[in-house]
Amino acid sequence: MTDTASLDYFSDPALAQDPYPYLAGLRDRNPIVREPHHGVLMVTGYREADLIFRDHESFSACVSIGGPFPPLPFTPEGDDITDQIEAHRHRFPIFEHMVTMDPPEHTRTRTLLSRLLTPKRLKENRDYMLGLADRRLDAIVEAGGCEFLGDYAKPFATLVIADLLGVPEQDREEFRRRLTGHEEPGSRVGSLDSEPVGSNPLQWLEDTFGGYLGERRATPSPDILGVLAATTYPDGTLPELIDIVRPATFLFAAGMETVTKLLSSAIRVLAERPEYQQILRADRSLVAPFIEEALRIESPTKVDFRLARRTTRVGDVDIPAGSIVMLCIGAANRDPRKFDAPDEFRLDRPNSREHIAFGRGIHTCAGAPLARTEGQVTLDRLLDRVTDLAIDETAHGPGGSRDFRYEPTFLLRGLQELHVTYERAGR
Ligand code: HEM
Repeated sequence: MTDTASLDYFSDPALAQDPYPYLAGLRDRNPIVREPHHGVLMVTGYREADLIFRDHESFSACVSIGGPFPPLPFTPEGDDITDQIEAHRHRFPIFEHMVTMDPPEHTRTRTLLSRLLTPKRLKENRDYMLGLADRRLDAIVEAGGCEFLGDYAKPFATLVIADLLGVPEQDREEFRRRLTGHEEPGSRVGSLDSEPVGSNPLQWLEDTFGGYLGERRATPSPDILGVLAATTYPDGTLPELIDIVRPATFLFAAGMETVTKLLSSAIRVLAERPEYQQILRADRSLVAPFIEEALRIESPTKVDFRLARRTTRVGDVDIPAGSIVMLCIGAANRDPRKFDAPDEFRLDRPNSREHIAFGRGIHTCAGAPLARTEGQVTLDRLLDRVTDLAIDETAHGPGGSRDFRYEPTFLLRGLQELHVTYERAGR
């Protein structure tokens, strides 16, 4: 049995490789327990995590990315610390981005983003994805194998967001180069938890988008960037330029690493289980539930944080104002009270889609439809273009004793590399 009391979730490298037994051990004690190293309340139950996600009145998102790092910029006093949070808001990591905002600022910012993510734009973006998937596959199918993250997933996820935002065609290669980690500073921009290589990982993006949108404010144009530049708040007022630039650029931080992790975990299952390749090839309507089960069993955003704004009670646990709460999404999605045999990948699981991999409540992932489509398009095109997808045993060892390395982060869950082999379809 895992000794849950002594381990430090935030720094133990072994836990980053396989957090699930540890998190299940915590849940066996109680779905909400305080860990001893940083005093964080660890929420491993599905019901409890769902309740806290939805209760934005009692729980502030100001710590959503950093959790206990750095420590709170004030000493909490009393049973309601709303005023303290507001007085120190600018001292929380990435306070300028919507994921750490609370209403009413969050509502205003999210409204701007919803102007971009219209059904029409998502449909056009899906068409782009289909072509993009084929172009990336063109480059790798003949070789009979690839390292899936670098050769497909990272560039794919990056270029999909560039297209969504209307980045001019001639600039996209530079986005791919700078953001996929091949050479430039800022290459870890999608990794919300890691030290940025440059001083501000989003700075290059902000400068670039500031330039695009500034030009279009000066000279209106009907393209996507032009529409973004002219976006107004519901009351008709024009936002400051930076207030449109930030939600736009944040999409790269939120949607690159996470999608890369989803795609690679789904492809890993497919490569390990040839029977699924046959089943999905024969019935493409099963690709969507396959992606949902992949999101459930390896939730790319492993954990998320909230700060208790008011003293409150969840289940049988009192949560004092000022407590940092860690919503263990990956553990909640394996809560046996919600999902039968939760550690098994089951394509026919009736409630896979009830996972909370995209969070819940007012901060529910704004890019969820996009991420789901990216997964579906990738699997669909891959199944058309290759057969006999398998794990490359020279890189990961033989079945039964595979060697897979996960990113050493407490926030995200995903493979560092995934080497696969295949045959080109139709030989
Ligand atoms: C499989 C891929 C993805 C996963 C697992 C994921 C997960 C999440 C989660 C858990 C949250 C909630 C954070 C919180 O409540 O504190 C979130 C928020 C967000 N996500 Fe995603 N995400 C994914 C892909 C994307 C993509 C592709 C985009 C956009 C291109 C995106 C944009 C956002 C934005 C803008 C927010 C902030 C929403 C808000 O604060 O209101 N995400 N995501």
